[in-house]
Amino acid sequence: MKALVLIGGFGTRLRPVTYSVPKQLIPLAGRPMLYHVLDLLPTDIEEAVLATGYKAEMIDAYVRAHPLPFPVRTVPEAEPLGTGGGMRNAGEGMSDPFYLLNSDVIAQVDLRDVRARFDRLGGAGVMTLAEVEDVRPYGVAALGPDDRITGFVEKPEPEAAPSRWINAGVAIWRRSVLDRIPPGRALSFEREVVPGLLADGVFGYRLTGYWDDAGTPERLLRSQRLLFGDDRGRIGTLPAGAEGTGPVATMEGATGRGAEFGRWVTLGPHSFVGPDAHVEDSILMDGVRVEAGAWVVGSILGPRTTVRAGHRVEGQVTGEAAEL
Ligand code: GTP
Repeated sequence: MKALVLIGGFGTRLRPVTYSVPKQLIPLAGRPMLYHVLDLLPTDIEEAVLATGYKAEMIDAYVRAHPLPFPVRTVPEAEPLGTGGGMRNAGEGMSDPFYLLNSDVIAQVDLRDVRARFDRLGGAGVMTLAEVEDVRPYGVAALGPDDRITGFVEKPEPEAAPSRWINAGVAIWRRSVLDRIPPGRALSFEREVVPGLLADGVFGYRLTGYWDDAGTPERLLRSQRLLFGDDRGRIGTLPAGAEGTGPVATMEGATGRGAEFGRWVTLGPHSFVGPDAHVEDSILMDGVRVEAGAWVVGSILGPRTTVRAGHRVEGQVTGEAAEL
C-alpha cells in the first residue's frame, strides 16, 4: 500500500513562524510534525508521496536528509491546488486502496485496524473521525448504521452539525476516488468530492486514542503535550547541567546548562538557553537564544529568535530572527 500526504498549505494560522518554515517542519517533542504523522504509517508500506506546495524545496531537502524506513517522494504543485487538486496532481501510480493523511494532525491510531475495517465493509473508503467539543472549524459526519457516513457538512454552525464526529484527516480511499477529482484546477476534496462519494459507501472509524489538529499556536502546543504524554515522549529528559522537571526534547547541538525547565519543551537544533533562564510549554526552533535570566512560557519562537537577558515572554509566536 502507498500513502498520499497533503502538505501544500500555507499554514496561515501559524504566522509569522510559517513565513520562514512550513508548519510540518516545526518540531514537536523533538521531531518535526510531519515525522509524527509519517510514524502512523506501517513501516512496510511501499511509498509515501508528499503533495507539496508552499516551501516545497525545504520539505524535499529535509526528507532527503532524514530518511524514513520507507521511500518518500515529493510531488510539488506549481500553484496551490487545494486538497483535491493536490491529490490529483500527486496521485499518479497510487495503490488501490491508499492511505490519505493530512500532515498537520497529531493522532493515535492503528492504520492496520482502519485497513481491516475497510476490507470488511468495502465501499469507497474509510475516514477516521475524532470527537470534538467545537465542530465549527471542521468537516462533520452524519452517521448511520455501521457508522456509514450519510452526510458530510464542512464547517457548520453548532446547531447545524449532524454530530460531534469530525474528519480526523486520516483515511483510506479506493484509487478510483482520484478519478472523481476534476483535473487542472484548485478544489477542496472534502467539500467538492467527498459528498459525491457517500452513495458508494464511506464508513467512519471512530478514534479512541488522542487526536488534535496542530494548525493554531494553542493547538500546536497542546499537540506537543500529547506527544510528550505517550511513548514518543520518552526522549524528553533535561539537557546536561540543567534543572527543573522537564520533559525537554533536546535536539542536536542544543544547550541549557544552568537553566531551569518546566514541562514540555522542545529545544531545536543549536538553540541556547542561558543560566537562570526559565522555559516551559514552548518550542524553540533552530538557533534560538534565550539569554540569562529570561522567561519563556507558552511560546513558539521561530528560527534564530533572541530573548534578551531578563525579558519575559508569554504566549508569543515569532518569525525568523525576532528580538524580544
Ligand atoms: P491554514 O492556512 O492555517 O489554514 O493552514 P493550511 O494551509 O495547512 O490549511 P489546512 O489546515 O486547511 O490544510 C489541511 C491539510 O491540507 C494540511 O495538511 C495542508 O498542508 C494541506 N493543504 C492545504 N492546502 C493545500 C494545497 O493547496 N495543496 C496541497 N498539496 N495540500 C494542501
